[in-house]
Amino acid sequence: MSNNLLKGKRGIIFGALNEMSIAWKVAERAVEEGAVITLTNTPVAVRMGQVSELGEKLNAEIIPADATNVEDLEMVFAKSMEILGGKIDFVLHSIGMSPNVRKKRPYDDLDYDLLNKTLDISAISFHKMIQVAKKMDAIAENGSILALSYVAAQRTLFGYNDMADAKALLESIARSFGYIYGREKGVRINTISQSPTMTTAGSGVKGMESLMDFANRMSPLGNASAEECADYCIVMFSDLTRKVTMQNLYHDGGFSSMGMSLRAMTQYNKSFDEYRNENGDICYG
Ligand SMILES: NC(=O)c1ccc[n+]([C@@H]2O[C@H](COP(=O)([O-])OP(=O)(O)OC[C@H]3O[C@@H](n4cnc5c(N)ncnc54)[C@H](O)[C@@H]3O)[C@@H](O)[C@H]2O)c1
Repeated sequence: MSNNLLKGKRGIIFGALNEMSIAWKVAERAVEEGAVITLTNTPVAVRMGQVSELGEKLNAEIIPADATNVEDLEMVFAKSMEILGGKIDFVLHSIGMSPNVRKKRPYDDLDYDLLNKTLDISAISFHKMIQVAKKMDAIAENGSILALSYVAAQRTLFGYNDMADAKALLESIARSFGYIYGREKGVRINTISQSPTMTTAGSGVKGMESLMDFANRMSPLGNASAEECADYCIVMFSDLTRKVTMQNLYHDGGFSSMGMSLRAMTQYNKSFDEYRNENGDICYG
């Protein structure tokens, strides 16, 4: 259902790889809400993924670019303004990758060249794209820039590895740049901290299925889907959130505020043998 929330707006969506990608859902919803967009991803992702299919469906041009490369980013903003006919109203950074995770290097045996890559791809690329956009004056007044984060920035979750550090940096960049870009141009910068979601990047996380089940049991509203995340992104791109900036916004069904839920406790208890002690209390051991 469309409410024309993005009518007349121009956007750039980074990171749609395939139908499962969060960026894919955001692109679909943005166009449904009346926006015109360009799509961008690495040349290899454009060749191997299904993004051309999405481009055709949404009548959106695809601009291959490596988000860690400043010249590529300059080209993305220049071409997007040319194609879409003016300054950009919203940008989605939906990019994440850890070569350490891919190569199964645990957190206490990281390869530091790979750590630099993780940080560059997953966090510093956000700084680069905002800096490039600002220098080119490519974002319209009151524009909205968003990146996707995860609660591992605040809390340690088994197996999330150096991506936790990348997410902490990503959220910090949103605050630091949010101040400067907000003060000078009214541009807001936020991160959305999304529930675990089964995507290509998500499936690289150690024990993803168990993590998703645990998060779902712990969250009073259950895990947020990629489609629901897209809905939240649309609101953040719209004029309904003009004074929201420098925030990390949890979109996780309540997970980040929970300590223990009945559903998680029930499942946890199943792993123990139940017995009664001398006082008649139920114990597990
Ligand atoms: N899936 C989850 O559980 C989850 C939860 C919270 C946050 N997130 C975040 O959401 C974002 C999108 O991930 P997703 O889950 O949709 O997975 P995805 O695999 O569909 O998207 C990741 C994208 O990053 C792109 N990318 C990698 N290196 C790049 C580079 N150098 N330049 C440009 N693009 C590059 C990939 O091509 C891919 O399109 C990521 O930031 C991820 O960390 C995901």
